[in-house]
Amino acid sequence: MASVCVIMIGDVVGDPGLDVLEKRLPELKADCGAHLVVVNGENAAGGFGLTEESLARILLAGADVVTGGNHIWEKREFWPVLESGKPVLRPANYPQDGSPQGGVSGRGWLVLEKQLDGQNISFLVINLQGRKRMTAIDCPFRCFDAILAETRESGGGGTAAPARPLVVVDFHAESTEEKESLGYYLDGRAALVAGTHTHVQTTDERILPNGTAYITDLGMTGALNGVIGMDAGICINRARSQIAYRMECARPESETDCAVQGIIAELDRESGRALGIRRIRG
Ligand SMILES: [Fe+2]
Repeated sequence: MASVCVIMIGDVVGDPGLDVLEKRLPELKADCGAHLVVVNGENAAGGFGLTEESLARILLAGADVVTGGNHIWEKREFWPVLESGKPVLRPANYPQDGSPQGGVSGRGWLVLEKQLDGQNISFLVINLQGRKRMTAIDCPFRCFDAILAETRESGGGGTAAPARPLVVVDFHAESTEEKESLGYYLDGRAALVAGTHTHVQTTDERILPNGTAYITDLGMTGALNGVIGMDAGICINRARSQIAYRMECARPESETDCAVQGIIAELDRESGRALGIRRIRG
């Protein structure tokens, strides 16, 4: 049985997140011999969105694919980078009508080929976004179905055949109910479904009945001495005054105030089923 190791890292928040990612990811990759590394970067540029520079730092640290979320649109100058062919995704289910004004930049999924024992492994990495307590974009459930159909991976459940790509999904969503629902909806069709967006790591990692590795939220990568990676004082003021003061990243006082959070999953290449999933926090 040839197993494949995948690392998924939760939302990188600002420079504290980039710094700790650069320190920890190479060692994590080497330790587990990762074949694929997916990092959510939607908060990497000062806490909001991505820039070309922050994307380059995440890729140089060892990511194969950088995923996004609602903040991916934050920096207008980054939109052309979404079209540049670099391995960066925005949620696939943003509405697109093909008109010059109506479309959105970039792509929501990609296929990546890697090598294992001299043979190709194919990964289909998909970025989706939830709609509960978030912007009412297109349905992430139907969007996933459409992507599978487009990549000739359609079919009502069951495990993936040997030649099929291993499907890895970053579901950027607020609602736990919506995240678990998508996990079960994709069970047996995706090898790995991981939630992002809340920045708080959940302890519900498990393998679903038809073989999909699942976690509701990977957690964030950055300073732990704050509120979701941001300055606690500003967040308290926002909560007490109900004024949307601009948030700033928390400032770590020492290296131990920062962590990389995510999961390592082991997948069976032939069946497309998960063999294990464990959390990273440190
Ligand atoms: Fe985020």
